[in-house]
Amino acid sequence: MALFGIGKKKDKTESNIILPKHIGIIMDGNGRWAKKRGLPRKAGHSAGTKTFRKITRYCSDIGIKYLTVYAFSTENWKRPHDEVESLMKLFKSYLEEALEDFKDDSIVVKFIGDKTPFSDDLRKLMTENEESSKYRDGMVLNIAMNYGSRSEIVRAVKNICNDVKDGKFGTEDIDESLFSDYLYTAGQPDPDLIIRPSGEHRISNFLLWQSAYTEFVIMNKLWPDFDKSDLDEALNIYAQRNRRFGGV
Ligand code: IPE
Ligand code: IPE
Ligand code: MG
Repeated sequence: MALFGIGKKKDKTESNIILPKHIGIIMDGNGRWAKKRGLPRKAGHSAGTKTFRKITRYCSDIGIKYLTVYAFSTENWKRPHDEVESLMKLFKSYLEEALEDFKDDSIVVKFIGDKTPFSDDLRKLMTENEESSKYRDGMVLNIAMNYGSRSEIVRAVKNICNDVKDGKFGTEDIDESLFSDYLYTAGQPDPDLIIRPSGEHRISNFLLWQSAYTEFVIMNKLWPDFDKSDLDEALNIYAQRNRRFGGV
């Protein structure tokens, strides 16, 4: 169902649908997509990159304010060396070329996760993309790379302990809001909707703290096949959910 026509900006105001402010996407299923076609897994990752581009632009067009995409988890380093290497190559070429795309849409690019294990080249590109986009006023795109929610939480605890030790505040000042400010997503609203393509019913260490009251939509399409109409479908399902946040 095309809720938003072809995704022109005006459509969002014409529609009465309740749009999520923040969407998270677990971009999963690249490997299976390639396997089905007898292709190497890296061909699936390459196809997934195209979907990422298309869906990011679409989210920006329809007026989503925050989009967080899961690109590489802290656990994905366990994969065979050649797969990890091909992913790093893909990230590099992507950061060199494709993120230029988002200039037109005034997208603000942020990387969430620990940049330390990436190569100097890749880290430089990540920082450049963040720096060059930070004064834009469009959708915030968080790209989760070497991201794991447990490590994000441990990092926050360490930083809070150090700040208490330095006398910045006392333990009595620690509350949920302060804790959130120590996460990579500091200052951003929690995701309203998390979409997982490829049919897996799990969170895989993505936004554990932030997703306390997030609506989940699992879709069977593999990420490289995921289309604007699939996003519309997820938005439609989301719009019909009754969010209670523990109330009545
Ligand atoms: C997601 O697709 C991409 C990354 C995790 C980097 P997968 O590579 O996990 O694809 P499947 O789940 O094996 O099909
Ligand atoms: C989650 O997918 C991570 C990304 C999509 C980047 P995985 O394919 O790594 O998750 P599991 O192993 O199926 O839980
Ligand atoms: Mg997977």
